[in-house]
Amino acid sequence: MEKNKYPSNQSLIDFRKKHFMHTAALYHKTPLQLVKAQGEYVWDSEGNRYLDAIGGIVCISAGHNHPKIKKALMQYLESDMIQHTSTLYLTEVAVEATKALLEEAPAGLDRVSFTNSGSEANELAIMAARNATGETMVVNLRHSYHGGTSGTLASCGHSTWRFKAQPVTGTTSALEPNCYRCPFGKKPESCSLECAKNVETTIQTSTHGKIAAFIAEPVMGVGGFITPPEQYFHEVVKIVHNYGGIYISDEVQTGAGRCGGNFLLTKTLGFAADMVTMAKGFGNGAAIGAVLMKSEVAEKMAGKSYFNTFGGDPYQTLQAKLTMDIIREENLVKNAKDMGALLKDGILELAKKHMLIGDVRGRGLLMGIELVKDRTSKVHATAEAAAFMDACKEHGLLLGKGGLMGNVIRLAPPLSINREQVGSMLKIMDQAFAEIA
Ligand SMILES: Cc1ncc(COP(=O)(O)O)c(C=O)c1O
Repeated sequence: MEKNKYPSNQSLIDFRKKHFMHTAALYHKTPLQLVKAQGEYVWDSEGNRYLDAIGGIVCISAGHNHPKIKKALMQYLESDMIQHTSTLYLTEVAVEATKALLEEAPAGLDRVSFTNSGSEANELAIMAARNATGETMVVNLRHSYHGGTSGTLASCGHSTWRFKAQPVTGTTSALEPNCYRCPFGKKPESCSLECAKNVETTIQTSTHGKIAAFIAEPVMGVGGFITPPEQYFHEVVKIVHNYGGIYISDEVQTGAGRCGGNFLLTKTLGFAADMVTMAKGFGNGAAIGAVLMKSEVAEKMAGKSYFNTFGGDPYQTLQAKLTMDIIREENLVKNAKDMGALLKDGILELAKKHMLIGDVRGRGLLMGIELVKDRTSKVHATAEAAAFMDACKEHGLLLGKGGLMGNVIRLAPPLSINREQVGSMLKIMDQAFAEIA
């Protein structure tokens, strides 16, 4: 790769400091300029190669620059196929993407609306739920993240993301289903799903007794891959329906086969969600989100207009359709399950010698490692998590982090990752843990 083809990192940093909003953060003490990508790897402007174990930001499902997507997009543009038009006109590709999605949908969810992002998908889901029920209150979970728009931030369980003086109306939070830091002080052996029951208490004590919706991620991504027990969802669905609410399952991070089992984790867990929202890996990095909902909810919107300029755009829906095809053809959901199991076993082995590892959790290739200063006090090892990420980067491995205290390492590599690459991730992490100890 030509080294001097790119501007210096410092010039980009200086420009960002002056002209980007101060809300734009950068990963790493010495930030990277990523310029090239292929499959499971990305390259920086100095020509260094990294295994991309965070996949953009949990967006790369089929692999970077997948040859099938690249070829199809090139052919599409070369033949002057229409690149942008709105849903005010008919296009075949939006229908084809919808058909592919419906094949993966949990039973009963038979309506699709495309958006540009996960935030918009959740906005639409919440509006549709309020419209269908005639109720306002939305129950969310502490530590949740559903997007960066005003409505979704009102359902965000992190002070980090909320804005001062931002109106937070029509929402309330239930306690998080976090088995490692149980808000009820329980251990898995003594648990009676107090967290699920808390959804009912929250409805009884902070609403007028009826709700529009409950929204939750089946694995809480930004919150640090908090992984509720399977039974939690079944209990909560019953409660939500008892109080007249619509269950919105936010699969922006967990969807697109990442968690193994099915394309959607909601289907694998088998609980009766009324809506599923998705984005990120659904388009393998394209700017597309989607809401899946039941006809009975969608029909209540008849007579209302909802318009989204780019939602359903042929260029974006084409990428989602191709991504879904690749996930199926290459058996990537099964690979996510198998490689996820291998990765988890490997991290549990590392936990035997690296005392910083407090908890290992997640599903499939959505894997979190919570770092703690010691395993008894569970004090958050925030600085250590940042140092660990930097050390991994030096050895050619990119990871993410999350959790309210920034002490959870997040792994979400492309679903196409193989055994050798999992082995290499584990080797680098082992070395990085030793270096920062
Ligand atoms: C679970 C979840 N929902 C919604 C969103 C918002 O998606 P977007 O950033 O595409 O608007 C995110 C983004 O990180 C997310 O993790």
